[in-house]
Amino acid sequence: MSKDSSPREAGGALDTKIATEVASSARSALSAKAARFTESVIREMTRLAMKHGAVNLSQGFPDFAAPEEIKEAARRAISQDFNQYAITWGAKSLRDAIARKFEATQGVSVDPEREITVCCGSTEAMMAAMMAVINPGDEVVIFEPFYENYGPDTILSGAAPRFVRLQPPDWTFDPAELAAAFGPRTKAIILNTPNNPTGKVFSRAELEFIRDLCVRWNAFAITDEIYEHILYDGTRHISIASLEGMRDRAITINSLSKTYSVTGWRVGWAIASPEVSFPIRKVHDFLTVGAAAPLQEAGALALTMPDSYYHGLAEEYLRRRTRLLEILTKAGFVCFKPAGAYYIMTDISRFGFRNDVEFARHLVETIGVAVVPGSSFYNDPADGARQVRFTFCKRDETLEAAATRLEKLHV
Ligand SMILES: Cc1ncc(COP(=O)(O)O)c(C=O)c1O
Repeated sequence: MSKDSSPREAGGALDTKIATEVASSARSALSAKAARFTESVIREMTRLAMKHGAVNLSQGFPDFAAPEEIKEAARRAISQDFNQYAITWGAKSLRDAIARKFEATQGVSVDPEREITVCCGSTEAMMAAMMAVINPGDEVVIFEPFYENYGPDTILSGAAPRFVRLQPPDWTFDPAELAAAFGPRTKAIILNTPNNPTGKVFSRAELEFIRDLCVRWNAFAITDEIYEHILYDGTRHISIASLEGMRDRAITINSLSKTYSVTGWRVGWAIASPEVSFPIRKVHDFLTVGAAAPLQEAGALALTMPDSYYHGLAEEYLRRRTRLLEILTKAGFVCFKPAGAYYIMTDISRFGFRNDVEFARHLVETIGVAVVPGSSFYNDPADGARQVRFTFCKRDETLEAAATRLEKLHV
């Protein structure tokens, strides 16, 4: 059954003292919107990992080097004095490269002059897109479990979320439940494929079903595709923008972060029709003016990497997936094998802890491994109380260190 409710309120899992204090004072004096969500649990887990000297398998950032040629391109751009504001909606070189790559990989031809907005990461692109299309009272459909940013994104843009469950082990959705979540007030569906945290890759049939609902209810598909190249077992990534009828309904969001292992660069983008790009560009302009100019130049080079680069990336992650699945299975976790992205959702029922937060605390403080509690991916924390998420975008040594520490964990 789809639920009509607001995202996780402050006071949920792993709140810090500061978050609690801010939340209570905010109710009177500060923004009521900001008081309605907590700090990021994922980012908090990284801070806890550092505090306890734990192996960090929580936040999805690589602990290995970024490709040398991309780093060299960034250094060169600074030396060549790409050091002032780029064009607000993105350096021409990067927009041209994005358009070429989207056409080459998905067969969708877009106008880089009017349909691409470069932002500070896909995080800003998602927020700018939401603020550009949402009006008060609009509803947004979100698959659950969801990447935790989408909760605050809906609150800050003023949307009312309608959650639709992805069911393990394959993370399929019930078509009737999805259809029931759409209605006259639906403005958009947020789609994330390949998916964080489940590793689900939406199939063509599923995307066509979603497409039909978008067309029927005149809704946008805002689609986060930042793991597009991290795929396993012959799975293919399909952009919903490439389906008939979706060219002008899709807002396709992507970034350099995961594909090129540069999460700290903060360069992402939104591809949308000219009518939708126009307000996205305005919102983006007044949020951030623009992404880092030299890193956009380096991004233009990154997007010309040969196919062998993307194959190598997927192969490396396949190796890491295999190893982390072995480690976790041996330690007693029930693993949901991902078809894409670089996370493994696990069931922790066997360990006998009261909930995911208590278990994650035990792991980081006593065992020395940081993970993300499952509740941070659900509107109602109780729904994620039997799950935790691990990431494997880490060096072999990091995974082996986690393996050694997890030997202390008892089922
Ligand atoms: C699904 C998803 N979207 C967006 C982001 C953030 O991406 P960016 O670094 O481009 O802002 C992440 C980071 O983990 C993610 O998993």
